[in-house]
Parts: sequence; C-alpha cells; structure tokens
Amino acid sequence: MPLIPVLQDKRVVLGVSGSIAAYKAVALASALTQAGALVDVAMTHEATELVRPLSFQAITHRPVAVDMFHLLAETEIGHVSLGLNADAIVVAPATAHTLAKLALGLADDMIATTVLASRAPVLVAPAMDANMYQHPTVAEHLEVLRQRGCAILEPGYGHLASGLVGRGRLAEPETILEAVRAVLGRRGDLAGWQVVVTAGGTQEPIDPVRFVSNRSSGKMGFALAEAARDRGAHVILIAANVALPDPYGVEVRRVRTAQEMAEQVLEAVPGADALLMAAAVADYRPEQPAEHKLKKRSEELALRLVPTTDILASTARAGFTALRVGFAAESEHLLEHARAKLEQKGLDLIVANDVTLPGSGFGADDNKVTILGRDGLERDLPLLPKLQVAYAVLDQVRRLRGGAPDVGSFDRLRSFDRLRMSGGRGDAETYSSPPDFGRPT
Ligand code: CTP
Repeated sequence: MPLIPVLQDKRVVLGVSGSIAAYKAVALASALTQAGALVDVAMTHEATELVRPLSFQAITHRPVAVDMFHLLAETEIGHVSLGLNADAIVVAPATAHTLAKLALGLADDMIATTVLASRAPVLVAPAMDANMYQHPTVAEHLEVLRQRGCAILEPGYGHLASGLVGRGRLAEPETILEAVRAVLGRRGDLAGWQVVVTAGGTQEPIDPVRFVSNRSSGKMGFALAEAARDRGAHVILIAANVALPDPYGVEVRRVRTAQEMAEQVLEAVPGADALLMAAAVADYRPEQPAEHKLKKRSEELALRLVPTTDILASTARAGFTALRVGFAAESEHLLEHARAKLEQKGLDLIVANDVTLPGSGFGADDNKVTILGRDGLERDLPLLPKLQVAYAVLDQVRRLRGGAPDVGSFDRLRSFDRLRMSGGRGDAETYSSPPDFGRPT
C-alpha cells in the first residue's frame, strides 16, 4: 500500500474491544501503519482473550495499552497521554458494552479513558449480535455519540457469530481506513469546499447491447475524489461506467453517456469551488442508436458519428466560479497539445499524461503527469501512485485559490519519503511536525 498523505505521521489510536471481530482490527492496524500512521493500540481485557496484544505490537512496532495503571505504561504512554496526543481515535470493533461506556463517560478501561481524555475526532465501528444492535439502548447510545460529533460506521449485514443473519458485522478494514481518512479531513485544508470530480469513460450506444467507448478505468478520478475528501471537501463524484465501489464519504452519481455526464456536471458545478474533469468523455456518439440489436449481415456496416457536447468548454460561463481543471491524455506532442487545450477551453490547470508510457495512464495504478497552469506553471512529476498525483493536483488548485497547501500535501510527502529512504526521522530542515489546525474545545 502506498503512503496516504492525510495519514502520514498522524497519531491514530485504535481501540479494540472484545468482539469476535477483533481479528479484523489486526488488518486495520496493518493498513494504517503501511499508509504512514503511527498507530497506538488500546485494548480491553476482553479483547486480549480474542487477539493477543503481541499481534498488534508486532505490526505497529509500538507498545499496546491494556492496563490503566501499569508502571511501564505510566512512564511511556500514560493512561491519558494516548488521548491527548491523538490526531484521531477509532474504536473498531466497538461492542455494545464499550459504546455504553463511551456514551455515559465511564472511564474504567484504556479505550474509555483515552476517548474521555482526548479532544481528537472519534470514529466508532460497532460490531455485535443483530438483536443487540437493534436494541433501543444501543440505538440511544449511538445517537448520543452522534450528537457529540462522533462518526459512526454502520455495521454490515450478513452472517454473525451468534448464527443469526442480520446487521452487526464489523465494517471491512478498508472501509474503516477510508472513514479514518474522512474524519481526519475535518481539519484539512479543503474543509468547507465543494469539489466536483468526473471519472471513467462514457459509453455511447450503438444498439441495446453495443457501444462506443474508451479504456478509462476511472482510477484517476476516484483518487482525486478520495484526496479531496481526505482534505475536508464535500465531493460530488460523477462516474461513468467505473467498476470501483463508491468511496466512503463521497457523493457518487453514476452516469453512462456524455450527455448524462454533461447534465450532472452542469447541475453540480454552480456553487462549486473546483471542477476536476478526469473523465474520458467521448467526442462522438452514434447519430441514431438502433432500437433493437443489429443483426449480422454480409455487407459493410457504416456507423455515422456526431459530436457530443464539450462539457469542460460549456462550463466556461459567467457566473460559474469553480476553478476548472482538465486532463489531457496524449500519445504524441504531450505538452504542446495540453497547452492548446488549456488555452482553448479557458482552463486554470491541465494535467497532461502520455498514455503510451508503460505502467502509467489508462487502467494503471500509477501515473506520470505534468501539471500546466494558465499562470505559466509547469510541474513535471515522477511516476507516482494515482492518489499521490491527486494530492499534487489539489496542491495546485489550492494555490490558485489563494491558499498554501499544508496538511497532507504532496510536498510534505516527498520530504517524508526522502527521510524514510535515508533512514532518518526528525531532520528539522526537511521534516516538521504537522501544522496544528486547532483542537475543538
Ligand atoms: N472533455 C469534455 N467534454 C468532451 C471531451 C473532453 O469535458 N466532450 C474534457 C475531458 O474530460 C478532459 C479535457 O476535456 O478533461 C480534454 O479531453 P481530451 O479528450 O484530451 O480532449 P479533446 O478536447 O477531446 O481533444 P482531442 O480528443 O482531439 O485530443
């Protein structure tokens, strides 16, 4: 897993209470650590009956807190210092018992004490038997927590340890990881922004079963949506024929054709701060899609194509204040063609990528791009995971909107990478602690 800028160097406390789903928390601890977070695990005694603390310690390389008044714990982490230093707390799995303690403010174990002593945002991921989850007491406790600003990750529906089938399964570790990112984003540099992102490739019907399309996977657009969410933006993601699941905390609108995408963009863009058009929109569509499936014949078949609306160009209207970013996928004369599109479509930024490079572009997990700006910016980036490219693009969007990119920005990631490679930490020249966005009181 690549480093995820919003998680990099963040102190995340993972509270593990005694549900049979505690084993999934090991995968979560691993994913958070790989993504760059410093993970401190706090367990209830019941949880240690299900998973040994050593499993977590081996993965996080940090001591696991179980006993509140353990001598070592008092000197090294302390029973309240975990909460004080946390950037986010995630309780996964959260049993009915732990939820009750959190709602009532009891402080008789490491998880409850840490939450009480902290002002960091809290995410809880409940896991329990379906009947317990439906009990009004649990619902009331969850409501109390919700009203206090705690994020709740609904459990899933399925087979439960009790033998019942119902709602109560702990959310999957990947989903919990995304929810932690969204919770951290509340203090991000795009908090309060509305960002519209398009992704995927449109399909233009020939008949009910055939269409004209392209090889776009939607990965770049989804990465942009996730990065903007990580930094606090409300994101509307307009996705054309993308096989990826909806990213957590993002408003997703699925479309098929260029026309449907144009309608959704024009509806979403007024009031937005930025429009990021990563979708590969068909330039032409069959003029007259056949009502019934075309039958095979021996003679040639000519397909008459007519132009579609240029969505980006049609958003260059007075009254639309969104900063507009285009993407230029080219197979030759990359920068020349990209600059021409920047000009013709009146864009603020264009992200140029050479689709012929191996390991980059359509369908790949990585991308090699150059970001060009109408202000003369030319930023050539190395081959990077698409999520990191997305952060770098948002840094430029933020800069043009008159703010310095800060928390979790791509530039901080690069200095962190350099330090990791040289094996050092804490070099004051190139590495500083994350800026403080102020703690809610
Ligand atoms: N775009 C759009 N509407 C279209 C076609 C493209 O909004 N009908 C957007 C794309 O989402 C992208 C940018 O315009 O952000 C450039 O797309 P691209 O296909 O590279 O450019 P075209 O203008 O279609 O030019 P060409 O296909 O000739 O390279």
